[in-house]
Amino acid sequence: MKLLEVQSSVRLEKSISRALSHEFIQAWQKYNPSAQHKQQDVGINPPAHPTELWTTANYTSPATRTLEMEATLVDSEQLIEELLWADRLLLGVPMYNFSIPSTLKVYLDNIVRVNRTFTFDSTSFRFAGLARDKKALVITPSAGNFAPHTPLGSMNFCQTYLQSILKFIGIEDIEIVTVPNQFMPDDIRQPEIERARTKLLDLAATW
Ligand SMILES: Cc1cc2nc3c(=O)[nH]c(=O)nc-3n(C[C@H](O)[C@H](O)[C@H](O)COP(=O)(O)O)c2cc1C
Repeated sequence: MKLLEVQSSVRLEKSISRALSHEFIQAWQKYNPSAQHKQQDVGINPPAHPTELWTTANYTSPATRTLEMEATLVDSEQLIEELLWADRLLLGVPMYNFSIPSTLKVYLDNIVRVNRTFTFDSTSFRFAGLARDKKALVITPSAGNFAPHTPLGSMNFCQTYLQSILKFIGIEDIEIVTVPNQFMPDDIRQPEIERARTKLLDLAATW
């Protein structure tokens, strides 16, 4: 079993997504003692944004890319190889402005690439994901509560976006553990952390 952990909180010490991810991985490793584990910390070291050269290189067939084009795709290729290597993808994703952190978006811009993680058939106009046979787990804390049918429920672009983009590249098995109400007083916010922790520790046995 091979686990890729991608963290996107800008916080290290106080990050709920990082702390719960760490606890989950420790529990999961007990059930998978020979598992390999890699981490991408895009919250602290984000990949570079795509540029015009990068975009041209991306849409140029590998056989006809110039050395300059190849060079601009090196980091993206490494990130894709790492994703394709993994059987399990754990994403620590704080909600930032109703969506995902911009650093995670840059990571996704680097790994969601035609003929690498998805294909497009120009005859049928169909897309197909290439990052198949993986499970994803998303741990997503937020200050507010964005559960469906609550006042803020329709503004949860974090979960809806991640579900769409992960499915687009072929990851169908997606578990999302929310940790809402983190700007509320302790008697409200702590039980949310406990609830998420219990769910994660249960999940560790079967994921
Ligand atoms: C730049 C920024 C934007 C945020 N935007 C939102 C938001 O739109 N909705 C929300 O509920 N919380 C928002 N928060 C609060 C975080 O989601 C919350 O503090 C969460 O616990 C952060 O994850 P972490 O504990 O793993 O760092 C924002 C925090 C930051 C730093």
